[in-house]
Formats: sequence, structure tokens, C-alpha cells
Amino acid sequence: MSAISVRDVWQVYDGRVVLERISLEIKSGSFVAIVGPSGCGKTTFLRMLMSEERPSRGTILLDGRPLPDEPTADRGVVFQRYSVLPHLTVLGNVMLPLEFLGSRLLGRLFGAARRDAEAEARAMLAHVGLDGAEHLYPAQLSGGMQQRLALAQALMGKPRVLLLDEPFSALDPGTRAEIHGLTKRLWEETGMTVVMVTHDLSEAFRLGTRIVVFERLEPERGTRITFDIPLEGRKKPQEHRTPREMHILTQEKSPCDRIAVGGRPSAWSAATIIPISTPAKAAAGRP
Ligand SMILES: Nc1ncnc2c1ncn2[C@@H]1O[C@H](COP(=O)(O)OP(=O)(O)OP(=O)(O)O)[C@@H](O)[C@H]1O
Ligand SMILES: [Mg+2]
Repeated sequence: MSAISVRDVWQVYDGRVVLERISLEIKSGSFVAIVGPSGCGKTTFLRMLMSEERPSRGTILLDGRPLPDEPTADRGVVFQRYSVLPHLTVLGNVMLPLEFLGSRLLGRLFGAARRDAEAEARAMLAHVGLDGAEHLYPAQLSGGMQQRLALAQALMGKPRVLLLDEPFSALDPGTRAEIHGLTKRLWEETGMTVVMVTHDLSEAFRLGTRIVVFERLEPERGTRITFDIPLEGRKKPQEHRTPREMHILTQEKSPCDRIAVGGRPSAWSAATIIPISTPAKAAAGRP
């Protein structure tokens, strides 16, 4: 069964079609990277998956059932910035989901329940490499630490689906590579389904099991899915690959900074995918 089933979804704001006929079956446990030009509706799509926005038309199912009307703990989210609360410490931010889940009325836990939550939060902070930073405030953290904190906070509710909206785009390359490793590890450990919006194709190829391109082909029409690239079987022996997989893989032999979509790195067009450079690592045969 699909973890997420998006069926003929449209989003129209003030008579303007933003998303048009979006249909997508997302397998449980997959890591889908969504790429597309600025303003095409990627965040809008994630907000719909989060139930922060309702589709104007169409349906979205989570494990076969319509999405709840409101955001729920089974869907975690991390944005580029401001995912965490500035007035709470690192520990307070990570305990927050447990406080809400444990005490919906007061939003606070007491006694043994609070001690358990604190132990769980501290374990999660250690897991993402933030042990020792428990009593700092977000403004006292580096960008990478803030995003580790945002990931930790999003994971405390044990989400089945994690939604990431350009979560690493403000980080320097070294920090970004580290947090890619962390994200991949967390995804593998939890088995959750991840939908990540990114402008960075190399990130999409490095982390994703599938890349979906959102694009508005005509100005008066809405954005549609113009390309859907499965990457899951990249490590399969060649003889087990379909012709379509082979086509994609011969275009995209390794991590990716070397591809542009439609030959225009800054203006997406999914008509073709072409190599734009071949780094030494690619020649060394990374899967
Ligand atoms: N609540 C809203 N009301 C009206 N228009 C909206 C609303 N939310 C988004 N839009 C419009 O929908 C379009 C898509 O916005 P969205 O933020 O989803 O784009 P995006 O693909 O995430 O862009 P970026 O890559 O710059 O983050 C924009 O034109 C935006 O102005
Ligand atoms: Mg956006």
C-alpha cells in the first residue's frame, strides 16, 4: 500500500491555479525529493501533506485513509528556518511534542511523566549529536545545530511521514554533508517516509529514492509533475534493470552536481536530463 496517495489534486488561490492535476503514489519508506523552480507550489504541496492547507480539488490519502483535517504527530516537518521556538531551550524544544502529546489540555507534563519525557528528549539529542547543548537557546546554536534540533524535534512525535522544506539550504557545504549523513541514518533507522523539497539537485540525488519535478509549463496553467525519476534500484545489477532505469542511469551516473534539467540549471524544464559535468568521483563509479 502507498504511504501517501495524491489523487488529482489542485490548489487554486484567488482564481489562480497554483497546482494542477497532481497525482503521486508515494511508497511507504521511500525518500521522495521534489525539485522545481521558485514559486511553482512545492511548499504549498507540503503544506497540503501536513494538513495546513486543503486541496481545492482532489484527495490525499495516508495509508489508505483521508488525511486528518489538522496537522498530527504522525507527520513531522522541518523548514529551512524557524522550525523551533526561539524562547525555549534545546531541551525544551525537543520535549515540546511530548508535552503536547502527553498533556493536550495543559501542554505540560509533571512528575514521572515529565522525567520520562526528559530522558527521551536527552536520548534523542544525543542521537542527533546535540548532547551538551541541552540548555542553550536556538539563537546560540550554529545553523547546522539548529537543523539537527529541528530534526530531533520533528522526530519526537515518531512520525510516519517526515516533510522537509529546503531544510539544509542555508548551511555551508561541510555542515550540509554532515547533516545529509544524519538524515539518511535517521531515515534508515526509522523506516519513515520522507518527502523533501530542495533546490539542490545533488542533495536530491544523494538522499532521494525518487526525484519528482514540479513545473509550470504554461504561465496561465498550474504546476504539474513533469518528470518522475526512480533512483531506488541504483545498486541493482544492470541485467535486472528496466530500459527506463537504464536510460536514467546512463544520463545520471553518479551524485549529480553534473546534471541540469532541460539544459538550463536555473530554469527547470523536465523535457530532458543532461550531464553538465563529470567529476572525478563519478568516473570512480559511485553507485
Ligand atoms: N495561502 C496562500 N494564498 C494565496 N497564494 C498563495 C498562498 N500560499 C502560496 N501562494 C502562492 O502560491 C504560489 C506557490 O507558492 P509556494 O510557496 O508553494 O512556492 P514554492 O515552490 O515553495 O517556492 P520557493 O521555491 O520559492 O519556496 C506562489 O505564487 C504563492 O504566492
Ligand atoms: Mg517553498
